[in-house]
Amino acid sequence: MTGIRLTAPAPGWAIDADVVVVGSGVAGLTTALRCAAAGLDTVVVTKARLDDGSTRWAQGGIAAALGDGDTPEQHLDDTLVAGAGLCDEEAVRTLVTEGPDAVRRLITTGAHFDTTDSGDIALTREGGHHRRRIAHAGGDATGAEISRALVEAVREAALHTVENALVLDLLTDAEGRTAGVSLHVMGEGQHDGVGAVRAPSVVLATGGMGQVFSATTNPSVSTGDGVALALRAGAEVSDLEFVQFHPTVLFLGADSEGQQPLVSEAVRGEGAHLVDGDGVRFMLGQHELAELAPRDIVAKGITRRMLEQGTEHMYLDARHFGAAMWEQRFPTILAACRSHGIDPVTEPIPVAPAAHYASGGVRTDLRGRTTVPGLYACGEVACTGVHGANRLASNSLLEGLVFAERIAADIAEVRPPRTEPVQASRDADAPVPLLAPEARTAIQRTMTRGAGVLRSAASLAAADEELEALHREAAADADGPRVSKAVVPGVDAWEVTNLLLVSRVLVAAARDREETRGCHWREDRPDRDDANGRRHLVVRIGPDRTPVVHRTETAAFPPVRPSD
Ligand code: SIN
Repeated sequence: MTGIRLTAPAPGWAIDADVVVVGSGVAGLTTALRCAAAGLDTVVVTKARLDDGSTRWAQGGIAAALGDGDTPEQHLDDTLVAGAGLCDEEAVRTLVTEGPDAVRRLITTGAHFDTTDSGDIALTREGGHHRRRIAHAGGDATGAEISRALVEAVREAALHTVENALVLDLLTDAEGRTAGVSLHVMGEGQHDGVGAVRAPSVVLATGGMGQVFSATTNPSVSTGDGVALALRAGAEVSDLEFVQFHPTVLFLGADSEGQQPLVSEAVRGEGAHLVDGDGVRFMLGQHELAELAPRDIVAKGITRRMLEQGTEHMYLDARHFGAAMWEQRFPTILAACRSHGIDPVTEPIPVAPAAHYASGGVRTDLRGRTTVPGLYACGEVACTGVHGANRLASNSLLEGLVFAERIAADIAEVRPPRTEPVQASRDADAPVPLLAPEARTAIQRTMTRGAGVLRSAASLAAADEELEALHREAAADADGPRVSKAVVPGVDAWEVTNLLLVSRVLVAAARDREETRGCHWREDRPDRDDANGRRHLVVRIGPDRTPVVHRTETAAFPPVRPSD
């Protein structure tokens, strides 16, 4: 096992548990609640506050075959089409068949979904779905409601939670098995500074990595910490090249950076049109579903039109909804637009694609197990094979729910014994030198320019070179094999070091995938290459700390085996 770790002080405090869940979105909190219900001593650690993850920002909803006439089989078909030939069919089948009951259990936990006049769950449509199957809450505040219900349940269950905690590295025992995590807590009194949660089962539910790009719908906490931790621990990651760019993000100017307001696909699901500056509906004729084509196709359609017309955005026109429907159905989006001086009731909304979702992540099997014994991954940080080359809209909350339950069941069944973490063997490896926090903007611009919505061999090679230069710079600044004197360890430095690692791996995979598939769009390789491309790119960090890419034989994932 690679077993490299970030430059950081040794843990000064410790908590002991059976399970530590890292992250507090739908995946993390569902796992934690189920583990606790099974009698496992469970600790939740989260980077900010319990309700500060990506889940809270989800607007559209949660997809499941809940409506009359809909079936898991139809949901499976739509998911496979969106995934562009790279979904693991068994994983998708698990998702769509277990999904409806998992949503019902979420309702039992306390989440309130919008209902029709007859009291049934109200369902809408989003891109790639041939049926109305998206359950929503508060109109366009689905994630906020799910987060509220789960946080309340966690508080009621009196789970041990540690907030403002950035996870650093995996701890392992003498056998190389998971023994907990090291983490840094900001100002929690009893748990302050670098410490450890010692537990034989670690569940990464750290969310996404949208912050590797300049503009993203992801909150500031989405810096790829879980993927970076897993890579340093020797785990395999897969499908990282498939970054989903959401087609309709409120355009706030070409230089706008950080988290941008989302304009949910559900707005198109309810009949909004995409138009160019001349009012032409350019998606008509590009796909049978027009504006409701799978997300990659709409993002490409918008980007192409922007390039043809030399403009920085397109428009989403939903003036025909009228004020009452806007206020009732999309209150969050209405307020966000108005706060930026745009009134969707009277004018079209300027929109452009922005980084939204990592379809890939830490490779797991159907029980959420990674290639490192005792380490699990769930939700956006994971790659279960469900999303393939492009996630179907609103499948992510569902994936978090379904696989959280599976992970909790696996841990409850195995109940691994607690073991002692060993630091000694890890100290044989030099820690990863830290990057200066100021490098964050450089990484984001490099990634946006070179590995953004439209990529080419040349743009990716340039990105690779710039990232490797940063990597070399950090290594050269480190004073000797054990201590990085140049950069003081701290949250900003750890985060940006994580951003660099996941960016390097993403670019390595994107260079290797010499075709256009799903949300990986290569202008120099415009066609899908089914003869060579229907396989996953699995990446690990090699002994010299560079990404090593290997390809699976088929689109079905081979069994997860412990890393050597
Ligand atoms: C949206 O509401 O458009 C986002 C939903 C998703 O990402 O699945």
